[in-house]
Amino acid sequence: MPTITNIEDLRALAQKRVPRMFYDYADSGSWTEGTYRANESDFQKILLRQRVAVNMDNRSTATTMVGHDVRMPVALAPVGLTGMQHADGEMLAARAALDFGVPFTLSTMSICSIEDVSEAVGGRPFWFQLYWMRDRDFMERLLDRAKAANVSALVLTLDLQVIGQRHKDLKNGLTAPPKPTLANIVNLMGKPRWCLGMAGTRRHTFRNLVGHAKGVSDMSSLGAWTREQFDPRLNWDDVAWIKKRWGGKLILKGIMDVEDARLAADSGADALVVSNHGGRQLDGAPSSIAALPEIVAAVGRDIEVWMDGGIRSGQDVLKAWALGARGTMIGRAFVYGLGAMGQAGVAKALEIIRNELDITMAFCGHTDLRKVDRSILLNGPAAAGADSDRQSKA
Ligand SMILES: Cc1cc2nc3c(=O)[nH]c(=O)nc-3n(C[C@H](O)[C@H](O)[C@H](O)COP(=O)(O)O)c2cc1C
Repeated sequence: MPTITNIEDLRALAQKRVPRMFYDYADSGSWTEGTYRANESDFQKILLRQRVAVNMDNRSTATTMVGHDVRMPVALAPVGLTGMQHADGEMLAARAALDFGVPFTLSTMSICSIEDVSEAVGGRPFWFQLYWMRDRDFMERLLDRAKAANVSALVLTLDLQVIGQRHKDLKNGLTAPPKPTLANIVNLMGKPRWCLGMAGTRRHTFRNLVGHAKGVSDMSSLGAWTREQFDPRLNWDDVAWIKKRWGGKLILKGIMDVEDARLAADSGADALVVSNHGGRQLDGAPSSIAALPEIVAAVGRDIEVWMDGGIRSGQDVLKAWALGARGTMIGRAFVYGLGAMGQAGVAKALEIIRNELDITMAFCGHTDLRKVDRSILLNGPAAAGADSDRQSKA
C-alpha cells in the first residue's frame, strides 16, 4: 500500500477500490463542473503571510461549533450514499469523527439509518441533515427518530429541492444497490474488497426511508427520490415550522447570497453554511470561499457563519477561518478516506487536515486558532473571486 501523506493519496486509493458508479458520484459536479473546480482552485489563490521567530509552543486548534466543543473547526458534511463508498460507511465515519473529536452529520439519503449510526457510536450525540419531503407525517416521524437517537443538531439543507444534473450519474445509472447489469458486474469484479464488505452487511439501500416513506417508483434511485418525494415548495415559513418542531440547534446549509443570509439570520437559526453543495447544484455559482467574506460582513455578528466546498487540506480550513468562517464542513475529503481505507481512512483524513492546520497556523505566527484573523492573509478578504483579482490588480 502507498504511504498516505495527503488527501490526494486517499482520493487515488479510493478510485481504485470503490466501484466506478459510486466513485464518480462523489468526484463530480453538475453540468460543466466549473463551480466544482472553482471551489478548490479559489483556495489556491489566497496567499498566507509567513512570520518567524515567534514562540510556536503549545498550540491549539480547538474551538466550538454551535456551542459544541470541537478539536478543530471541521465537521463531517452530510453525504448521501456514504454506505456505498464502503460497507456500513456512515457507521464507520461517525465513529472515526466522534473518536477524533469533531461532529459527524448523517444525511437523510444515507444507507445506514439514524438508528444504525446511534448504535454504532454507543449513543453518543451526532448531527442529522434533513431534506424536506412531501410526506409530512414521515417528516415528523423522522424528526422524532432523530431526537430519540440523541441527535444534537439538525442541518437543514436548502439548496436541493430539485437536483442538479450530474452527467456521470445518469450515464452510470446510479442506484443503491447497483443493478446487476453487465457493465456493473464487470466493474464489481475488479473491486473484491468492496464486494466482500458488502456481502458482510445487510445495509444496501436508503434505510432512513425505505419502509418509512411512501410514493416513490424506484426505491433504490436517488433521482427517483428527489423527483417524486423532495418538496420543491420549501420556503422560509417551512423553515420556521421545522425550527419550532425540532426545538434544538438548527444549522441552515446552502446559503450563497447576502439576502438569503439575512433571512437565515432572521430565522433564528444557530448557524448557516455558505455552500454550493460541493458544486453539485447550481453550476455557474461562485466558489464558496469567494462568497464567504461578503456574507460574514453582512451577518457574521448575528449568526455563526460556516462554509464548505473545496476543502482538501488544513490550509484551506485556516484560510476559511481567516476569512471569518467559524466552522467548516468537509465532504469529499472524508469520503475519499472512507472509500480508500474504511474507518481508518476517515481518521487518517482528519489527522492530515488537523496536522496541516496546526503547522500552517504556526508558520503564520500563531499558537491559538481562536486568535487567528484575516491579518494572516497577504491578499486580503475578497481575494478569492475573479472580481477581487481585478480589484487587487487595480
Ligand atoms: C457524494 C456527495 C453526496 C452529498 N450528499 C449530500 C446530502 O445528502 N445532503 C447534503 O446536505 N449535502 C450533500 N452533499 C454536499 C456536502 O454536504 C457538502 O456540501 C460538500 O460535499 C462540500 O464540498 P466538498 O466535497 O468539496 O468538501 C454531498 C456531497 C457529495 C460529494
